[in-house]
Amino acid sequence: MAISKITKDSAEAFAFSAPKLEWAKKQLEKYPADRKQSCVIPFLWEAQKENGGYVDAAVVRYLSDMLDMAEIRVYEVVSFYTMFNTAPVGEHFVQVCTTTPCWLRGSDEIVKVCKNKIARAANTLSEDGKFSWMEVECLGACANAPMVQINDNYFEDLDETIMAEILDALAEGKDVTPGSQKGRKSSEPFGELTSLSDPALYGGAE
Ligand code: FES
Repeated sequence: MAISKITKDSAEAFAFSAPKLEWAKKQLEKYPADRKQSCVIPFLWEAQKENGGYVDAAVVRYLSDMLDMAEIRVYEVVSFYTMFNTAPVGEHFVQVCTTTPCWLRGSDEIVKVCKNKIARAANTLSEDGKFSWMEVECLGACANAPMVQINDNYFEDLDETIMAEILDALAEGKDVTPGSQKGRKSSEPFGELTSLSDPALYGGAE
């Protein structure tokens, strides 16, 4: 969920990089000239990525000019959709699902690790400015609960120890592997199959 107000320490100016501007021009060609506003969500998404993970006043101004929209209209979109952050989130933005299936499978422990290793309060940058965390509602990976999303990746089948290891690895600049952290393929059951165990039933397809 986005923090509700645009941060005050906005950069003075924002502009798409040259390749992103090329991309933006191509998107605009898909719409009539008086319907440029239709691009606001994908443009905000790309601007957020190029602006270090959040939308600030400079981004809103830039897109309001580009799309012929009042700044308040752009801001309304930013404040409505939880995919947009309005304050710095750091290089590693951790979203912890705490909805019922994840909660039943131990999301409280995952939150505890985030509090210990990132910051006591959600939506707060870590001391080194590289991390932040927040609680979110179901991210649609309940069969692999508990789980978190870090930037664009899901990390599933977590426990306290594994979560701590992932954060430590990121802090040391190491690569981490997304997906199930307990080696299962997608959301297959752990261990032997308990149903559809006869390949003849489904033509043997993987
Ligand atoms: S409840 Fe956590 S992913 Fe659905």
